[in-house]
Amino acid sequence: MTVIGIDKMSFFSPQQYIDMVELANARGEEPDKYLIGIGQTQQAVIPPTQDVVTMAANAADEMLTASDRKTITMILFATESGIDNSKSGAVYLQRLLGINPYARTIELKQACYAGTFALMQARDYVTLHPTEKVLVIASDIARYGLNTSGEVTQGGGAVAMLVSANPAIAQINQDSQYLSRDVMDFWRPVYADTARVDGKYSANIYQDFFKAIWMRYKQKTGLDITHFQAFAFHLPFTKMGLKALRDVLPEASEAQQANLMREFEASRVYNKRIGNLYTGSLYLSLYSLLANSATLKAGDHVGMFSYGSGAEGEFYSLTLRPHFKAGLINGQLEELLSNREQLTIAEYEEIFDSQLNGLTDRQLDTQQDTAKFVLSGLENEQRQY
Ligand code: CAA
Repeated sequence: MTVIGIDKMSFFSPQQYIDMVELANARGEEPDKYLIGIGQTQQAVIPPTQDVVTMAANAADEMLTASDRKTITMILFATESGIDNSKSGAVYLQRLLGINPYARTIELKQACYAGTFALMQARDYVTLHPTEKVLVIASDIARYGLNTSGEVTQGGGAVAMLVSANPAIAQINQDSQYLSRDVMDFWRPVYADTARVDGKYSANIYQDFFKAIWMRYKQKTGLDITHFQAFAFHLPFTKMGLKALRDVLPEASEAQQANLMREFEASRVYNKRIGNLYTGSLYLSLYSLLANSATLKAGDHVGMFSYGSGAEGEFYSLTLRPHFKAGLINGQLEELLSNREQLTIAEYEEIFDSQLNGLTDRQLDTQQDTAKFVLSGLENEQRQY
């Protein structure tokens, strides 16, 4: 049977960040609360010249060959910070990336979960059409507001994934278990540019969903924790994944517990420095795991937990392919992180309040933004890329 899965992955986040010790000092909190209690060390700052479309284009462009651009027949764009209530971000991407015009383009939404739904649709589509490729992109800006308890869990960026037959990175297995329930733990009304959240409740619901879905996964598949060499979690902040992992660790032997903890540390290296990117967080964590683990090998199983507030969760597994590291762009994240510029908290606050307001036409100064794709302004209420 043809193997279907993730062939390539690429990541983008803007060039500026703030340090969490400085943010803690500015907010009158103990730095260890942010560094250990929340598990974040830095946070990406999104300038007005980047939005979910430009970040997605910057991520995907680095990974796509000319032949990929011809073979892609579907672009699935997952976001919960979209720029239009009607037109999909995927249509802009098709033009910016020079993708075959005879491709379907669509945007998907269910909080941080939509990237996983897109990936599952891509897998099923390629299973039926194995000569075609699907571009899946998860792109978001996490915004809670200055001086809010969610501020330490902001961030932003985009993960692009190419789904194909005979993939380089991983097979996406047909073992998903999922759960949906109407809860108000986190939401963003259409008129708001920052999220509304019942913080502690949302973290509890995340854990409840993980435990319930994990139990069901074991019942339905007959598999247990010994099947897994690593887990990757949706990481709104990296301590959240640690809490979920601790919920299942008692089921493992001492030796396996140590292995799973080591892989978990590999899976949060990049998320600690980028912050939350909603739909992309689980996939940045997967990227981090694959790039930073020195022990994972072909045939290993990675348990993937996706969670989107509101709420929907899904657990599934990946099986790593023989040369899985070759599907990542060599040194991409290290280069991105080492080229970032640190902002003061005052500079970040100014940028936070200067995002493009969708109603007022304005030209943006793009001189400072070194990314290939930038947002240059708004004309007649139309975004200019
Ligand atoms: N040293 C070490 N740890 C410390 C500390 C110190 N000096 N001071 C405090 N801590 C610990 C606390 O004990 C606590 O740990 P536990 O959670 O293990 O108990 C942790 O730091 C956080 O402290 P608080 O709970 O007091 O923090 P808070 O009230 O300021 O809020 C938060 C934290 C609820 C996560 C808040 O940042 C928030 O609302 N974030 C946004 C919502 C969110 O990310 N929810 C996650 C689930 S929903 C989801 O996953 C979807 C999504 O992407 C949003």
